[in-house]
Formats: sequence, structure tokens, C-alpha cells
Amino acid sequence: MILLLSLALGTHEEPDGAELFARQWVEADPRSAGGDGLGPTYNDSSCTACHNQGGAGGAGPAAKNVRLTVRGGATVVLHRRHLAGIPEDERRMRPASLPIRMQPPVERNTPALFGMGLLDAIPESELLVAEALGSPGHPEISGRLARDPHGRVGRFGWKGQTPTLAAFVEQACSNELGLQTETTDQPGAPSLPDMDDPMLFALAGFVADLPAPVEVPTPGAERGREVFVELGCEGCHRASIGGVQGAYTDLMLHDMGFQLSDAASGYGLRAKAADTGASEAEWRTPPLWGLRDSAPWLHDGRATTIREVVLHHDGEAAPARRAWARAGEADQQALETFLMSLAAPGTPLPEPRLAETPVQTDGTLDPDGLDTLRLLASVR
Ligand code: HEC
Ligand code: HEC
Repeated sequence: MILLLSLALGTHEEPDGAELFARQWVEADPRSAGGDGLGPTYNDSSCTACHNQGGAGGAGPAAKNVRLTVRGGATVVLHRRHLAGIPEDERRMRPASLPIRMQPPVERNTPALFGMGLLDAIPESELLVAEALGSPGHPEISGRLARDPHGRVGRFGWKGQTPTLAAFVEQACSNELGLQTETTDQPGAPSLPDMDDPMLFALAGFVADLPAPVEVPTPGAERGREVFVELGCEGCHRASIGGVQGAYTDLMLHDMGFQLSDAASGYGLRAKAADTGASEAEWRTPPLWGLRDSAPWLHDGRATTIREVVLHHDGEAAPARRAWARAGEADQQALETFLMSLAAPGTPLPEPRLAETPVQTDGTLDPDGLDTLRLLASVR
């Protein structure tokens, strides 16, 4: 029926967001809406090249980290690749050849995009209320929402630099792949748009519809969840924000101390400057859902174990770190078990155990069992 309808309505085809997300772009790509395809400077040739752990849209390894530096107060991307014949000054690639007034490069690790649509849909008013209420019971924690230069609340990116998912997707086309859009330049020589608005809409729709991560029932995880609360982790990594369950973030900026500091912010944005973007020490609390599949962790992927992650927590999170250090080995282990039960969606669940399995003997799902498992993906 749908097929007949679309035949009757003509040959117009909607762009396919999944295809655009996985597409390996090339120079002068015929898929381009009218531009020059990949590049001229870029970091990789597809979204999935970086976002792939635990499925399309997942996190990425440290080898795919994006390198940034601050030039004249603004954050610029140091692209890893360029097409042949690009003049040196447009490449922005080799830190050694950069002017002295640039700071040494810093890195950003690729986060997972699962469930981002849910965070995008939280009304701004709910975040403002959460900001005003603060973290009851945690006087040491003083989160605040990031603001972009137009005063809009930022909720995406390690520095909370971008207000909406659609805006981040558009910037990613330009910054990571060198795909020009109607409103964003590509790095290097300008071209006509590679991604027209219908293509961008489809790509952003695909990202927004990526299912949320799941919690895999694991023995010991429930005790770990209690430890997580007892140590004060939940003061920032909140189980519930704006009606979204299980993301473990407050989407706010927190001062994390000197060791984690760096001056780079959103690409093209000034760090701190006149707006109220993140300061050097401030980072947006990353959602912990899907954590099992998103290593390495922290903004530059410097941590490969939970122990390292926690030991890097300083500033507003120093009391939580100290509480962790005082906790016994059993509680530290339970905490880790809980964190490792937060998995990307679509990754195979371990062999179900009888008491908790939602799969009945005839292979169908038991709705009550599903509730018990809190399969967050099914909330959508
Ligand atoms: C070279 C690796 C790389 C490629 C290619 C890449 N990304 Fe990313 N992505 C990153 C990194 C690194 C970040 C974190 C950037 C930051 O916050 O400064 C990120 C962040 C994001 C975010 C924000 C996530 C959050 O937690 O706030 C979205 C959305 C996103 N990317 C979408 C895309 C899309 C869509 C594409 C393809 C057009 C793409 N990315 C291509 C590395 C990559
Ligand atoms: C004051 C707020 C705050 C508290 C309290 C806090 N965190 Fe964090 N956490 C953050 C921020 C901000 C980051 C990101 C820092 C960075 O990347 O530089 C982070 C990062 C993490 C990460 C890495 C996530 C990723 O995707 O890379 C994990 C895991 C984590 N925290 C677990 C914990 C645990 C466990 C506790 C309790 C012992 C805790 N946090 C307490 C704010 C907090």
C-alpha cells in the first residue's frame, strides 16, 4: 500500500538517514547535493568511522580522537587528513607548523550517540528548574548550564557547547567530513552545499532515533547502584533528568579541577570569553548510559579503567573521589559491576538467568519480566 502510494506520488525519494550516517564519502562524491564531496580537509570519511562501538552511533577509540587547539582565543580543529593539492595554510593539520600563538593541541574522544534524541527532547524549562534546585545534599556541587553565545542552553558536546542535536549533526558534517551545508562552511576552500536541508534533516532524524542504551541485569549491580548514590556520584550523574530515566547526567557543567582542564571549547567558539560557555576546568557531566561499550573514557579518552576515571575526578567531584578511596574493595567492585551493566543497545545480552529472564519458553517476551529488566530502549 505504501509502495503504491509513493509510486502514485511520483519518484521523489526521501534521503535515508542511516545510509548518510554510514556513507563513506569521497572527493567529488556523486551523493553530494551539489558541492565537492569529502574534504578538502577532514578527520575521517564517514560518521561510523568514529561512532561505531556497540553499533552504528557508538563511541570511538582513542585512535580516532579529534585534535583541537586554540588560535586567537577561538577553538579550531586540527584535521587529520586533506585531499591532494590543498595549500598548507588551509590544512591546519601539523601542529609543528602552527603559529606560536596557538596552544598545543588537545584531544576529544568520540562519545556514543545512543538515546541522544531523548536528551534533545527535554524541555529547556526542566533543565532551568534542575539548575535552580542544585544538588540537594551536596553543597560541594555547583552545576550550571552551559550557554552558547546567543544565550541558548547548551547540552551536547564535552563542554556542553551546542544547544541542539540537529545543530551538532550539522557541525559534524562540516568539521569531521568537510561536507558543506546551507549554513556551515566546510574547512578549507568553500564549495556549494554537499548536504542540503532534506539530507541534514534525515541524518539528524537517524541520530535522534538511535535507541537508548540498556541496563544488563548483572549479579551485584543493584548493590553497586546503591554505592553509586552513597559515594555522591549521583550528585552529578543523575539517574533521572527531565523525565529521561537512566541517563546518569544532569547535562550541567562542573569544575573538575586542574588536571582535566583545557582551554578548547566548541569548534569555532571562544573559551569562556564574554558568553557563559565552559571555563577550562568545566565539563558537562557525560551520560553514563552505555558506558560498558564507550571506553576509553573522559573527554580525551585518557582513562581505560573505572579506577583511573574516578581518580581523575577533582574539583567539585573531589569529595566523591575521596569517598570512593575510603570505600572497601567489595563496594568498589560492586560500583564497577553496576557501571559495566550500562550497555549500548543492540549488543547481545548475556545468557538470561532464569529468575529474571523476560524470554518465555515459547520464545515470546514476558511483559512483566521486561519491566524488571528495565530495558530502557523500550521506553521510546
Ligand atoms: C573523526 C571522528 C568523528 C567523526 C568522523 C564524526 N564524529 Fe561525531 N563526535 C566526535 C567527537 C570527538 C565528538 C565530541 C566533540 C566535542 O564534544 O568536542 C563527537 C560528538 C558528536 C555529537 C555530540 C554527542 C554528545 O554527546 O553531545 C554528535 C551528535 C555527533 N558527534 C554526530 C556525528 C555525525 C552525525 C557524524 C557524521 C556526519 C559524526 N559525528 C562524525 C568524533 C567524530
Ligand atoms: C561534580 C560532578 C561529578 C561527580 C560528583 C561525579 N562525576 Fe563522574 N564525571 C563528571 C564529569 C564532568 C565528567 C567528565 C570529565 C572529563 O571528561 O574531563 C565525569 C566523567 C565520568 C565518567 C566517564 C564517562 C565517559 O563517558 O567518559 C565516569 C565513568 C564517571 N564520571 C563516574 C563517576 C563516579 C563513579 C562517580 C562517583 C565516585 C562520579 N563520576 C562522580 C562529573 C561528576
